[in-house]
Amino acid sequence: MNAFARLAEDIAREAGDMLLAKRPTMSEVVETKSSPTDVVTTLDTASERLIRSRIQEARPGDRVLGEEGGEAGGDSGVRWIVDPIDGTVNFLYGLPEWAVSIAVEVDGQVVAGVVNVASRGEVFTAALGEGAWLGGQRLRCNTGVPLAQALVSTGFGYDARRRAVQGQVLAEVLPRVRDVRRGGSCAVDLCSVAAGRVDGYYERGVNRWDYAAAGLIAAEAGARVAGLNGRPASPELLLCAAPGLFEELHDVLAPLDPERDA
Ligand code: IPD
Ligand code: CA
Ligand code: CA
Ligand code: CA
Repeated sequence: MNAFARLAEDIAREAGDMLLAKRPTMSEVVETKSSPTDVVTTLDTASERLIRSRIQEARPGDRVLGEEGGEAGGDSGVRWIVDPIDGTVNFLYGLPEWAVSIAVEVDGQVVAGVVNVASRGEVFTAALGEGAWLGGQRLRCNTGVPLAQALVSTGFGYDARRRAVQGQVLAEVLPRVRDVRRGGSCAVDLCSVAAGRVDGYYERGVNRWDYAAAGLIAAEAGARVAGLNGRPASPELLLCAAPGLFEELHDVLAPLDPERDA
């Protein structure tokens, strides 16, 4: 594991421990963002503050992009991409599917990714070219699964108009696959592809901090992580699956007109 992955893991563990020690309540919803369903708790901001201060102490010249605090910092060529709680709604309801997600980018390329699913005691890590790991176990995604036998996870974001379109997309996908899961954390969904717990994952409307770390983890586990028609993953679409299933899923999703979703 490279030094960035080690530092990211230490910080993600500390943030996860802090979050586990606090019991979320509905009163901790301090504000909503893009829509009434897009919530932020005091613990999202506390987690991001902790992570930013640890990065600043260890590497004062680096930049940090975080979901809650935006982008700031120096010009060392290193940028940390932080989702302080991915799966805030689950966190708020006491469901286990949430994670602290930290990625490190050097000159625009993600070289380390850590996803701490603290409620399950699982820390997923990856370093570029060095594989993806869950503790001491090397991860490999499922391969050779045809679309009709694929368990596929997805998510819907917060925007009501987009959700209506995503419902239509789901109606097209559901009859073609084994079944669909909606876990509530993009980072955990991608780690689940890496660990072979689902066969594939797609979502429209995700942001860089949702998938920067777990995208590397899935890729290092052998999955393809990309967008539509050879484009990189973006809010337009993030699709993740082993080669073969990736193309089959892509061909179902591509004609479903992402422009209607804008
Ligand atoms: C959200 C989760 C969710 C996904 C949304 C994300 P947040 O992140 O990853 O699964 O469907 O698109 O915004 O807001 O809980 O950090
Ligand atoms: Ca959020
Ligand atoms: Ca997120
Ligand atoms: Ca978040």
